[in-house]
Amino acid sequence: MDASPREAVAEETVLFTADEIADKVRELGAKINDDYRGRSGLVLVGVLKGGAVFLSDLLRAIEVSPQVDFIWVSSYGDSQASSGKVEILSDVGAPLEGKHVLVVDCIVDSGLTIGRILAHLSSKPGVSSVEVCALLSKGRGHAPEIRPKYLGFEIEDEFVVGYGLDLAEKYRNLPYIAAIRGC
Ligand code: IMP
Ligand code: MG
Repeated sequence: MDASPREAVAEETVLFTADEIADKVRELGAKINDDYRGRSGLVLVGVLKGGAVFLSDLLRAIEVSPQVDFIWVSSYGDSQASSGKVEILSDVGAPLEGKHVLVVDCIVDSGLTIGRILAHLSSKPGVSSVEVCALLSKGRGHAPEIRPKYLGFEIEDEFVVGYGLDLAEKYRNLPYIAAIRGC
């Protein structure tokens, strides 16, 4: 069998290496440990599909043994811009009564997706709290109610791939995060 190299993006600029991401994940995990230690009922809710890789690393940086669940939403289709319509394709599987929910997504752009998820999860019966942890934000000066409490990096307004993020379902496997141009 061919040992072909990982398929990279044609015109990419690496923004964050795998090591830089790992350091940031540890830093975010430490803050979350400080805030949630001694509180029971933490649930990490990963946003599929883009947040799956980040969630799996963040989970291992957290020491308070959280429950894990997922919500699957769609807004971009195959394009590089949001359709403006956020559809919940699959909801969390377990009730959130008495739970402290931490929504985990890789990136916040317009904030539409996270806003929709926050409204949806906050309306669940008896939920104790809902916060957001995002690795990246395009820094558009989001309204305070959707600004992630835990944020890794602010980036420019450009399209990025890797570490779970895709362009038309490609490049999620890249261990680094790259900005792409000319695609
Ligand atoms: P928003 O609703 O505009 O904030 O977009 C959030 C969602 O769009 C994220 O959960 C990602 O799935 C996707 N997204 C936003 N920006 C990018 C990007 O630069 N690359 C890949 N996916 C992105
Ligand atoms: Mg996508």
